[in-house]
Amino acid sequence: MLTSKSKIFSLLFCALCIFWCDFWFQVKPRAQQPSSADVVFFREKILPILSTRCQSCHSDTLKLSALTLESSEGLHTGGVHGPVVVPGNPELSRLYRRVARLEKPYMPMDGAPLSEGEVALLKNWIERGAVWPESVRPDKTHPTANSSAANAQNGTATPELSANAILFQ
Ligand code: HEC
Repeated sequence: MLTSKSKIFSLLFCALCIFWCDFWFQVKPRAQQPSSADVVFFREKILPILSTRCQSCHSDTLKLSALTLESSEGLHTGGVHGPVVVPGNPELSRLYRRVARLEKPYMPMDGAPLSEGEVALLKNWIERGAVWPESVRPDKTHPTANSSAANAQNGTATPELSANAILFQ
């Protein structure tokens, strides 16, 4: 009886360890090395929205509400109210809430609201973990040598950008 109990206990313990290792190895490297699909999604779908509709006010030079949307650091640092995305949870993400008109003041603060499609893309991006690949530098939409998939598509990596990517890792 005791033996089978301890067997069950060891089994459970092993299962927990495996689960934990799996979690660690999946989540950790993923945060640093996004899949090429995530890189392309961010570069093609998300960055254009941030660049054209948000960076006029939320840039490294004009950080309204202390928020810059020019880099992954800026995104994760957030604004005066703290981080603006909760990866995996758009409903709790201030960035999404402001553009989906769930929380005032709505964003962008000037011009037309984002289209439904754009809001849906931002939602989808946050659901997928709000990946901002370090290899995609914000205002310069060129990927670095880090991102082979991205490079294959537009082949524009430059030495300064690669240096940036190293600095930011
Ligand atoms: C015309 C300028 C302007 C534009 C463009 C703009 N914002 Fe803002 N944003 C502001 C100002 C001003 C605030 C501070 C307002 C407040 O929260 O009281 C702000 C605040 C925010 C905040 C809250 C930050 C915090 O912690 O207080 C988020 C999130 C945000 N903006 C996201 C966006 C996004 C995403 C876009 C693009 C879709 C965008 N903004 C475009 C001016 C702008």
